[in-house]
Amino acid sequence: MSSTNATPIIELRNVGQTYDGGNHWVIKNASITITDKPAQGEFVVLLGMSGCGKSTILRYVAGLQKPTEGQVLIHGKPIEEAPRVSMVFQQYSSLPWLTVLDNVALALSYKGVAEKERRDKAMEIIKKVGLEGHEKKFAQYPTLSGGQLQRVAIARSMVANPEILLMDEPFGALDINTRLQMQELLSELWLEFHPTVIFVTHDISEAVYLGDDIYIMRSNPGQFEQHIHIDLPFHRNRGIKRDQHFIELVHEVEDKMVAVGSMK
Ligand SMILES: Nc1ncnc2c1ncn2[C@@H]1O[C@H](COP(=O)(O)OP(=O)(O)OP(=O)(O)O)[C@@H](O)[C@H]1O
Ligand SMILES: [Mg+2]
Repeated sequence: MSSTNATPIIELRNVGQTYDGGNHWVIKNASITITDKPAQGEFVVLLGMSGCGKSTILRYVAGLQKPTEGQVLIHGKPIEEAPRVSMVFQQYSSLPWLTVLDNVALALSYKGVAEKERRDKAMEIIKKVGLEGHEKKFAQYPTLSGGQLQRVAIARSMVANPEILLMDEPFGALDINTRLQMQELLSELWLEFHPTVIFVTHDISEAVYLGDDIYIMRSNPGQFEQHIHIDLPFHRNRGIKRDQHFIELVHEVEDKMVAVGSMK
């Protein structure tokens, strides 16, 4: 499933996953090609029923897990050393024994950035995610609320300007207002840094609002079953959710999810 002839940034070729020597395949023959748009990046959303393999796919791309069979390629090559990938996990993933500032700055220390610059850059992004004034607090609940902790995770993932940003249901545990704010924030950060994003959600409206391309996965075995290109303007704001075309896209995705969900 490729949109252009440019070298893809991420490619999965006939990937398969079994944990019991091949009796049951959690994922089988899953293939996807993700190609960046120049100076824009790409925003891919993965949808699919619980257990279909979305988090597993993200772990492959992050280099945290190897599939049983098939290939995972970044820029046409197998993942060898740590690629410029950041991941926001399904659960809160900040380090509770460090302050907000140190959590965010830590992501830069791996890149060998000097301490002063680390702190300045970390503060810059902390302001962007609306956590100024909280930077000296420990990144733990209940010192910070769930939404604030998730913003720390997003700030950590963005500060090192990753080429690839993997987000696994990052807003799943947030209240609706915080969730809408975080959607706006992510959309702004994406326009500024234009990474390649793979974003997992169960929320169709969120998928259409944020995504350039939506892939619906089937389960048993997990595969990329449907691709919907979202032909909405590049710059979006929340008002777009009332547009007729947006509403039609949400219905189209929902219908396809129902069809994929009933596949055996
Ligand atoms: N170590 C393991 N041993 C056996 N099965 C596993 C193992 N790790 C993952 N699985 C199975 O792989 C399947 C895919 O898991 P994955 O976490 O990728 O699903 P998901 O699509 O992210 O689901 P959700 O929407 O609930 O987060 C699940 O059925 C899970 O039980
Ligand atoms: Mg998951």
